[in-house]
Amino acid sequence: MTSVLCPGSFDPPTNGHVDVIRRASSMFDRVVVAVIRNPSKTSLFTADERVDLLRRSMPDLTNVEYDSFEGLLVDFAEAHDVDVIVKGLRAVSDFDYELAMAQMNRSLRDVETLFIPTNPEWSYLSSSLVREVARLGGTVDELVPEVVAEALKEKLV
Ligand code: PNS
Repeated sequence: MTSVLCPGSFDPPTNGHVDVIRRASSMFDRVVVAVIRNPSKTSLFTADERVDLLRRSMPDLTNVEYDSFEGLLVDFAEAHDVDVIVKGLRAVSDFDYELAMAQMNRSLRDVETLFIPTNPEWSYLSSSLVREVARLGGTVDELVPEVVAEALKEKLV
């Protein structure tokens, strides 16, 4: 059985995240979605809210688990018996940082990182832009799952 990890901040989850997780779910036996719980960084949604939004965005995926973590990703991976990390790459601009993280993780523990090219439809999409547009009153309904669009409206009233 091949298990993979899809880690991220997911603040909030976007259609780009969902696309990558769905594709990982179709290629691998088990997918563990890992939401970073970063106490030093202010987030719009709590880690528990982000886990809940991700779960409710993909209720049909039966081989996907959701959890949050603090500390090193490789420690979370070991605790969940996963040796492969899957990340989406939107553009060349993502690559430098993603490559450094992949190599750092590989040096910390024997984990591989696989990159999936993001669907071009979502290549410009980021959680930070979604937060900004939503905060300024723009519509993000086409950019995020319905449950996330609703949660953003409630959060930002
Ligand atoms: O959605 P993001 O913000 O690109 O996700 C980044 C994340 C959570 C994958 C990354 O920050 C991470 O793995 N953090 C855990 C800390 C860690 O393990 N750092 C050392 C290896 S680079």
